[in-house]
Amino acid sequence: MSPFPFQQVRNVRVLVVGDLMLDRYWFGEVDRISPEAPVPVVRVVRREDRLGGAANVARNIVALGAQVTLAGIVGTDEPGRIVSELAAEAGIEAVLFANPETPTTLKMRVLGRQQQLLRIDFEDPPPDHAIKALHQRLDALLCKHDILVLSDYAKGVLANVQALIARAREVGIPVLVDPKGHDYSRYQGATIITPNRAEMQDAVGRWGNETELEQRAQSLRNRLGLQALLVTRSEQGMTLFSDQGRQHTEADAHEVFDVSGAGDTVIATLAVTRAAGLDWFEAVRWANRAGGIVVGKLGTSIVTAGELA
Ligand SMILES: Nc1ncnc2c1ncn2[C@@H]1O[C@H](COP(=O)(O)OP(=O)(O)OP(=O)(O)O)[C@@H](O)[C@H]1O
Ligand SMILES: [Mg+2]
Repeated sequence: MSPFPFQQVRNVRVLVVGDLMLDRYWFGEVDRISPEAPVPVVRVVRREDRLGGAANVARNIVALGAQVTLAGIVGTDEPGRIVSELAAEAGIEAVLFANPETPTTLKMRVLGRQQQLLRIDFEDPPPDHAIKALHQRLDALLCKHDILVLSDYAKGVLANVQALIARAREVGIPVLVDPKGHDYSRYQGATIITPNRAEMQDAVGRWGNETELEQRAQSLRNRLGLQALLVTRSEQGMTLFSDQGRQHTEADAHEVFDVSGAGDTVIATLAVTRAAGLDWFEAVRWANRAGGIVVGKLGTSIVTAGELA
């Protein structure tokens, strides 16, 4: 494996656009059942807020030592203010369109007795005019960056992303997409997409064996005009499809504690190492190593350049 390109990474500027969210955790103690309904009463003793979705991708890019601008939509609410604050603290340059009509996407977990008792989601697709207003700001940003990452969690920001992808290609910067949904035609012309197993199945159906996966991956890649397609496969590692055929990397065997957010770490590492000059397969190997490290961590879903190297 080539050495980690520390020097080059420091100069890399990534633009992340997508569905950002706030992950909120309330940890508490459970001593009794509510007299009002047959549910536990949780006395909250600790709270934690973390950047999630596209914002977690941005956080991972900073942890790897590169520079990042995060563009997305928040509401004019308390979670939106927290997203701004956390982004500033993390060293993320944030371009947030504050839309008063819809809430900041918030995933709230209530935990007691070491387990999640409830998750409460606040989300609503932002209106078209808010999405358009955000996209208008992106034009000027594109040329100040080396690479564009689209972090799609199907919350609306990337529902009509064709023009943005086309513009990035005109400016000459690669476009990496973490996709969602059945219809990938909106990612036409991107450089690489990184579906996980379930996302790949949504897009091309179930495959019976590796040959079938390869055929479907290559035909999807050709149809969308992609340079490469990376399927992330959890404990099976990841498989890259490109003009050079199929290149597979086994998962790093580690103890697994928390798999959430691994996909964000993977696309962040891919973007940073690729923009630093590595070829796709070398970038994939670093991304796979980062994925293996992050699933072994509890509580924080980032990997630093030091940990990677
Ligand atoms: N159980 C595991 N053991 C080892 N490595 C893993 C495991 N799960 C994930 N990884 C690493 O992380 C990468 C990305 O994981 P995965 O394919 O699950 O992405 P994902 O579903 O998008 O993740 P998430 O949506 O939770 O952020 C894998 O390709 C692998 O490198
Ligand atoms: Mg994912």
